[in-house]
Amino acid sequence: MAQHLKTFLPQLKKSELFIEDAFIDGQWVKAKDGKTFEVYEPATEDVLGRVANCDRDDIKRAIETADLGQKKFYKSTTAAQRGVLLRKWYDAIMENEEDLATILCLENGKTLLEARGEITYAASYVLWFSEEAPRAYGETIPSSTPNTTVLTFKQPIGTCGIITPWNFPAAMITRKIAPAIAVGCSVVVKPPSETPFTALALTKLAVDVGIPPRTIQVVPTRDRTAATELATNPIIKKLSFTGSTGVGKMLTQLAAGTMKKVSMELGGNAPFIVFADADLDLAADAAMICKFRCSGQTCVCANRILAHKSVAAEFTKKLVARVAKLQLGAGMDKSTTIGPLVNKGGVDKVAAHITDAVSKGAKIEIGGKKPAGKGFFHEPTVLSGVTPEMLVANDETFGPLAPVFTFESEEEAVRLANATEFGLAGYFFSRDVGRVLRVARALEVGMVGVNTGKISEAALPFGGVKESGLGREGSMYGLAEYQVIKSVTIGNTDL
Ligand code: SIN
Repeated sequence: MAQHLKTFLPQLKKSELFIEDAFIDGQWVKAKDGKTFEVYEPATEDVLGRVANCDRDDIKRAIETADLGQKKFYKSTTAAQRGVLLRKWYDAIMENEEDLATILCLENGKTLLEARGEITYAASYVLWFSEEAPRAYGETIPSSTPNTTVLTFKQPIGTCGIITPWNFPAAMITRKIAPAIAVGCSVVVKPPSETPFTALALTKLAVDVGIPPRTIQVVPTRDRTAATELATNPIIKKLSFTGSTGVGKMLTQLAAGTMKKVSMELGGNAPFIVFADADLDLAADAAMICKFRCSGQTCVCANRILAHKSVAAEFTKKLVARVAKLQLGAGMDKSTTIGPLVNKGGVDKVAAHITDAVSKGAKIEIGGKKPAGKGFFHEPTVLSGVTPEMLVANDETFGPLAPVFTFESEEEAVRLANATEFGLAGYFFSRDVGRVLRVARALEVGMVGVNTGKISEAALPFGGVKESGLGREGSMYGLAEYQVIKSVTIGNTDL
């Protein structure tokens, strides 16, 4: 057994879920030129696996195959049948939850508990869209022309390119694939090169339960230029991406060349506002979930904590007391409550934000260091005395750093919260119902959490405004991202 497989395989009940190949045209295959890339375990920096590194030709072949698959899939299934297929996939995911969580934990670094939570979260999108599949209603519209009926059909957009991030290796895949399959599309998925194994395992389960193989193609690659084929190939009619705003803009520009529909779930810089009338224990508990979930590597995590001047010291004390209880370590270790970051770049960014803030007058309340030794670890950190001139105010840290700013009025809090080009999520804590409605309206974001730090669920329309992107995933709106509305005008109905 290859050295790297010795880490992985013994930890799985079903070792066949660990796959290093691409999935093209219904076959598990190597890249055409045989090239692979290495995937590392963030907790140890050891090689976990070597995955097929698809080139442009591989990706083109996957797109052409997916297109053939889509036409057949849509013609040969009813919406209800597609719902049943998704339900079977959901059951398979839940039956294999422990193996999927192990794969996810090892390749991403998040704790096993968080990994299990993500598998359940990922499965919830599959269940949701298994139920939404038969509800893709069209309309009958009264026409202004006599003897005329206008109908709308909601049809699948066609073959879709899906590019997903490493921070949610399972949930970001299912949140995109499940609605696509529900309406009769096919997908070509480029999973993240840091965490491709969860995507490959999920695909195997999908195909094993009967989702036709040509409707899902998975093309791992580290070649970013080859991956842009998904944004330029005319066969692809829809591109869905979750990742950074910079890459999202580049992909949107490329997709415009063939007028593809795009969904872009991009970066955030979420404010987390603690008003003077907030329940401070509730706010501190929520900040722990919102800030430190997945070691701070979520697009919706609190990037800037804004606390009213009168409660900032007390709130910070409560937050620090909670952070002091976190146990940093490898995700598979039972005592660990916060894992490593995904790579060295992530650790360096946290360190750079701390150095910059401290050089401009911020104070480290707890944490602040990278521990010695192997693994991409950084101590969970709280900073006080943070101001808008600091890097952390404008740049998404994507790590376990909680910077506490202060404000003096509701107006100032809203102004500071909105002083960013991003607009994904925002949170605030208050017991004043008037303020709750005012501030929820005033925040320039796609999603608001009031008196909670946890908003993500399949029922939520997930997405941003401003430079945080376009489109909504999950919810009753998720299907529409993969559909086109066709209007049918039937004239002379008195014939
Ligand atoms: C993300 O970070 O991109 C997704 C977070 C979530 O779904 O909660």
